[in-house]
Amino acid sequence: MSLLEMMYNRRSVRKYTGEAVSEEDVKKILSAGLLGATGKNIRPWEFIVVNDKDVLQKLADCRTGSVAMLKTCECAIVVIADENKTDVWVEDCSVAMANMHLMADSLGLGSCWIQARLREANDGRTAEDFIKDALAVPENYKVEAILSLGQPDGKPEAHTEADLLFDKVHYNKF
Ligand SMILES: Cc1cc2nc3c(=O)[nH]c(=O)nc-3n(C[C@H](O)[C@H](O)[C@H](O)COP(=O)(O)O)c2cc1C
Repeated sequence: MSLLEMMYNRRSVRKYTGEAVSEEDVKKILSAGLLGATGKNIRPWEFIVVNDKDVLQKLADCRTGSVAMLKTCECAIVVIADENKTDVWVEDCSVAMANMHLMADSLGLGSCWIQARLREANDGRTAEDFIKDALAVPENYKVEAILSLGQPDGKPEAHTEADLLFDKVHYNKF
């Protein structure tokens, strides 16, 4: 399958069967994140793999809103970065997240981006403070997002050409 075909197929998957995700697949997904481009090649990120069910249950309170997949996923990868290393840590973490999400899909796994930056936890703290406390993240790190991972329990249809908003593309001027 070409890269473009994989991109058409990539979907956010929020329901999982409960079957295991192999360590080999998790390593491939982490490799995709670690291969992401970063400004000046600073690579400010760190990746926290959470595969302890108790910790995943706890993390499910890190956000108000759409995070129920943390209760049923097999594994989650939390992407954080040292903000003192670069002013483009948000972009660097986002590239890593997108790479890992696409890699997971290409392996037949379900995954979903769970936003943490600028979001609120169930207990009124910021999602960032909640996650840093739950995962013992050092003070100087910022939390971007979490990628939930699991064997997909169904998957939305692949995107089609009709989904491509080419009217958002401009040439030479807006
Ligand atoms: C920056 C960003 C934040 C997102 N945050 C969430 C989230 O917190 N919870 C969630 O269920 N999905 C989240 N998503 C997934 C989007 O809802 C999803 O990508 C979008 O609806 C398009 O669907 P698709 O990924 O299946 O193409 C996020 C995606 C991005 C890129």
